Amino acid sequence: MLSFFMAFAKWLQGTWWALDISGSTWAYPFVQMTHFSGLSLWLGTNLSLDLRLLGIGKKRQTASQLSDSLFAWNWIGFCIAVAGGFMLFASAATKYVPNPAFEIKLGILVPTGIILHIINQAKSRTWGQTPETPVVAKVLALLEFLIWFSVITAAVSIPNYDTH
Ligand code: HEM
Repeated sequence: MLSFFMAFAKWLQGTWWALDISGSTWAYPFVQMTHFSGLSLWLGTNLSLDLRLLGIGKKRQTASQLSDSLFAWNWIGFCIAVAGGFMLFASAATKYVPNPAFEIKLGILVPTGIILHIINQAKSRTWGQTPETPVVAKVLALLEFLIWFSVITAAVSIPNYDTH
């Protein structure tokens, strides 16, 4: 399995646009900025809904109304973050594939966070009809918050496991 991912990584890293990113002094920081801007939108809007489901902060809007108004920005942020993340990955893919922090981040934590987020977002339509949310909503919102916190912890640990 690892050799399959390594073969893909070698091919990806050799594409003209990946070579342009890794070979330029300004392209890598620009792509990094893209990943972080997308993450700010994605994580910021996720956290807003999680805090509302937890009942923290003002309760002028129900969780359902808040989720509705953040929905488009939430998924726009996600698309920008994934596009930026994919380009960062492509610039040095053979370095990231065997990195345990990267494997845990992308193989376990990010998919778990996305699934939990989709559940929370969809369920907030029913959980969020009244100002108070049910206990299950609070537990899942806290869990989602902790998962994204773990994703960030894994992401910032990637350089510590770099064997190159
Ligand atoms: C959607 C949830 C994601 C979160 C919360 C996240 C978070 C982060 C953070 C905080 C960093 C900065 C690490 C540092 O510079 O100290 C980072 C870097 C990075 N991310 Fe993501 N990321 C996400 C998704 C992705 C995806 C989908 C990919 C790949 C397709 C990706 C690939 C990368 C790469 C390659 C780096 C650079 C690692 C390094 O060399 O330091 N990320 N990410």
